[in-house]
Parts: sequence; C-alpha cells; structure tokens
Amino acid sequence: MNNIKTKILGTGIYLPKQIVTNFDLEKIVDTSDQWIYERTGIKQRRISSKEGGEYPSDMGKFAAEEAIKNAGINKNDIDMIILTTATPDMPIPNTASILQTKLGITNHCACMDLLAACSGFVYGLTVADSLIKNQQAKNVLVAASEMLSSSTNWQDRNSCILFGDGCGAAVIGITPNEEESDIFASKLSADGTGREFLDQPAGGSVTPITADILLKREQYIQMKGRDMFKVATRTLADVARHTLDKANISVESVDWLIPHQANIRIINKTVELLQFDPSKVIINIENYGNTSSATIPIAFHEAITAGKIKRGDTVVFVAFGAGLTSGATVFKY
Ligand code: ACO
Repeated sequence: MNNIKTKILGTGIYLPKQIVTNFDLEKIVDTSDQWIYERTGIKQRRISSKEGGEYPSDMGKFAAEEAIKNAGINKNDIDMIILTTATPDMPIPNTASILQTKLGITNHCACMDLLAACSGFVYGLTVADSLIKNQQAKNVLVAASEMLSSSTNWQDRNSCILFGDGCGAAVIGITPNEEESDIFASKLSADGTGREFLDQPAGGSVTPITADILLKREQYIQMKGRDMFKVATRTLADVARHTLDKANISVESVDWLIPHQANIRIINKTVELLQFDPSKVIINIENYGNTSSATIPIAFHEAITAGKIKRGDTVVFVAFGAGLTSGATVFKY
C-alpha cells in the first residue's frame, strides 16, 4: 500500500439561465405551487436552452473550466474525464470525449461516461479516488452534467415537477504531503430488483423508438414516486452509516452532510434516521429541484462559495437513485 491521499482540488458549476417556477408549471399540468412546495420543497428549477448551447457537454465545459481554475492546474494536467449523466449528448460517442474537445484538452486523456443515475457523482468520485490511490491517474475531472428536461414527460405531473438541469464538476488530485485532505471511505451499492420504480423504457436496444412508442410517450422517465420515496429514506441513512463505520468516524464528528436533493421530505427523514444535526445539512432543492447526479456537486460548490464548507471540514455525500443505486463518501475537504 502506498500513502497517497486524495483531495478535491477545485469545484465548479453551471446552471442554465432559464428559471421555471412552480407557477410556470401550473400552466402546463394540473398542479399548484403550494402542492409542489409542500410535497417536495421545490420552488423553481433551471431548464437548458436547446438553442442557447446548454447541452450536457456545454454545461460540463463551463463547470469544468471553473473547477480546473479553482484547482490551480493546467487543463492538460487532467489525465481522465469521468462524466456522470443519465442524459448524454447522444448515445455514441460518450459525452466525456465531447467534453474533452470542448475544453481543448489535447493530451488524449481517458474519457468515460458513468451512468448511476442520481448516485453518479458519488460513484465517479469513488472511481477517481481509487484510480489516483492506485497510481493510474493524477488528476481526474468528475463532471456531473444532466439535462433531465430532455427525458421528462412534461404531461406527467407526478414526475415533471421534480426535475431540473445543471452541472457540478470537481477535479480530484493528490494531497500535498503537508496537508490532511483525504477521501477516507466510500460505499457503493445497487439493488436492481427495484429498477421499475424509475425507468425510461424506450430508446435503448430493447425498445427502439418507433412512431407508436412516441405516441405512448415511453421515451420519457416513468416513476413510481411512493415506492422510490420509501426505499430512498431507508437506503440513504443505511449507506451513510455504513460508510462512516468503515471510516471509523462518528456522526457527531461530521461537519457537513450533503444528501442527494430529490425531495425535502426524503432529506429530513434521512437526517432524522441518522440523528444528524439539521443545521449541518446543505440543502438547495428549493432553487434547482432534482438535477440527478449534479445535485451533490452543485450544493457542495455553493456551500464552499458561501464560506460554509472550509478546508479541513469533514464532509459526507450520500446519494440514491434509479437502478436502485446508492452510495456515500466521507472525506476531509
Ligand atoms: N400536483 C398536484 N397533485 C399531485 C401531483 C402534482 N404535481 N402529483 C401527484 N399528485 C396527486 C396524486 O395524483 C395523488 O392524488 P390521489 O390521492 O387523488 O391519487 C396525491 O397527489 C398524492 O400522490 P402521492 O404520489 O402519494 O404523493 P407523494 O406525497 O408521494 O409525493 C412525490 C409524490 C413528490 C413524487 C414523492 O413520492 C417523491 O418525491 N418520491 C420520490 C421521488 C424520487 O426520489 N425520485 C428519485 C429520482 S432519482 C433519479 O435517478 C432521477
């Protein structure tokens, strides 16, 4: 075993310019601002402009440029790009490779997309941490870029009120000798038996898009909200606790918890199950809704920028999503 420690060197975000409020949604589906806010904690979300160059690779470019600048490295020092998304620019090539060219990275670094739904960023961070600790890479860019508006059925009030677009990125590198930053432990898991709780059935090899499929709107996300809700709360608390145990860190010594932002009631229940201090939980769901794998890095970057999370703080990320994937990471920032 070597003694390499890993550090989140820098972060960045991109949020589409267009704001869509609950009142805007009242005009397209049978819902109300009051229902959405009370049941989810969401007031508004950002929606990408197709004309305005806000596709996943574009959002990735803006967020990654900020993360690279904050990391204080040269873009050609990146030796791997992991782009986490459920909404790639297109099926082939991967969006990470498109991002590489948009960033102007010319060193032929490895590029891969990672699909683990809302747990994607935690999965990506864990892969980056492992590659660096195993000396397979020195600086890994993890960009969580999601354009869920393109997969959302805007006629389905059960799901369309939840989602938003955005990107959060981070550069992970080696901790200098004299510093203490490190990713202490991560835990990734999935339970495929619940895969029908949230899926997008058409558009893959099993059910290619046909005129009939389009008519039935099966190219969009379908969700069993109540089932997702029940499993989410239990799983988030379990995976966070398991990861803290693995790192031998008590709940009390965690400075900040950043849970996936799917529903304020899921967050509150998770915090209660963990017996965690609510004042140390980062929540921004009101402004952006559920941006899938991007919720955690967006909330993380905003908390750093606001001066809440500081170097030396112990932070836990915990996520849950379609698949049913889940994951948590505990680290010293
Ligand atoms: N506006 C008004 N009424 C609505 C709306 C709406 N937007 N949506 C549903 N309702 C109605 C329902 O039709 C139902 O009416 P009924 O009682 O007459 O049948 C009533 O409100 C209650 O519906 P529920 O589904 O029980 O509402 P619930 O309190 O469970 O909230 C919600 C629904 C917000 C979807 C919740 O279940 C939830 O957040 N689930 C988890 C979603 C989640 O975490 N998704 C993860 C995404 S992960 C990823 O990978 C992208």
